[in-house]
Amino acid sequence: MDSITSASYAVHFNEIAFLKVNEHLAKANYSKVFILVDENTHTCCLAPFMAAIEGDYDFEIIEIESGEVNKNIETCTQVWEVLSELDADRKSVMINIGGGVITDLGGFVASTFKRGIDFINVPTTLLSMVDASVGGKTGVDLGPLKNQVGVINQPVMVLIVPNFLNTLDDIQMRSGFAEMLKHGLIKDEKYWNDLKKLSDLNNVDKLIHHSVTIKNEVVLIDPTEQNLRKILNYGHTLGHAVESYFLESESHELLLHGEAIAVGMILEGYLSYKLTDLPKSALEDIKETFLNCYPKVAFSDSDIENILKLLKFDKKNSHGNINFVLLKSIGEPVIDVKVANDLLTEAFSYYKE
Ligand SMILES: NC(=O)c1ccc[n+]([C@@H]2O[C@H](COP(=O)([O-])OP(=O)(O)OC[C@H]3O[C@@H](n4cnc5c(N)ncnc54)[C@H](O)[C@@H]3O)[C@@H](O)[C@H]2O)c1
Ligand SMILES: [Zn+2]
Repeated sequence: MDSITSASYAVHFNEIAFLKVNEHLAKANYSKVFILVDENTHTCCLAPFMAAIEGDYDFEIIEIESGEVNKNIETCTQVWEVLSELDADRKSVMINIGGGVITDLGGFVASTFKRGIDFINVPTTLLSMVDASVGGKTGVDLGPLKNQVGVINQPVMVLIVPNFLNTLDDIQMRSGFAEMLKHGLIKDEKYWNDLKKLSDLNNVDKLIHHSVTIKNEVVLIDPTEQNLRKILNYGHTLGHAVESYFLESESHELLLHGEAIAVGMILEGYLSYKLTDLPKSALEDIKETFLNCYPKVAFSDSDIENILKLLKFDKKNSHGNINFVLLKSIGEPVIDVKVANDLLTEAFSYYKE
């Protein structure tokens, strides 16, 4: 598969990925190579990665505990301290091997340590391959509030090796699939229709490549999210609020990122039907597709009230307004739509119907 070139870096696939990282390490003359993993990617992905690395470098492995609950500043502090203890300097590099939690947190730690060291992303979940590892958004949650602290800073390269997905469970695969469906909804109706017809997620190499191409096209035009890049947040305004609420609430099971934004995409589909002329048939298609893939989440009235309170923390807000990305049709988004509170409650009623 061809590499995908972004502004300052490239996304490489399979054998080319290993070829490029070997070339880069040989040339860059790093003082030390730090590898960030969690316990699962330590077990499943580190050995095959190391086996493909040629040459003799000064490696240090840093392991953090897996899970969104650990994507916070306390974990960053631990990693910064370890880097410091192990004499990381500005010529060190960090290789993030893991899902979106590792690439978001590792990218942020590297971008801020000694005002920034190089980092390389090696995504190992479907979600991080198609979305989180590309585009340069790095950061962590603040309490339950998603991605409140972070910077936009690009990796040196992204290495996508779909074989890493062999050890990933189906629920995590499905979570990543939600971001792929989003790519169809915001930019490519044919892709949406193709994805809907998939019977399993076994042979997704080409689809990963297509999703990264879509994301990259958007990010290249608007790297700092002034306008167009906002479309990547379709489903995320309400989706993040739902994710935060479940992250915080002890009485609810944790929702994965993809599961939460799947709910968000149905809710924001309803808002699109009401406000930006999304045809009813497209709204029904969106609802049916997501409910076929993801279990329906039960929301009580008080859940909904609390979720809506969290909306004020969304990063797309400005001057006290809550801004949504909605759809005019499948593949055609509209940015900066303001939505009245009543309609938000109505959207949840539509979800629950
Ligand atoms: N920066 C961005 O642009 C962006 C975009 C989308 C999502 N995100 C963020 O990504 C995060 C979600 O990422 P995620 O879904 O990858 O979650 P994750 O990093 O928590 O990974 C999910 C689970 O899979 C395990 N795992 C990872 N690779 C594995 C493998 N190959 N085999 C077996 N187990 C493996 C992990 O240890 C973890 O338990 C969220 O925090 C979200 O906000 C960021
Ligand atoms: Zn997302």
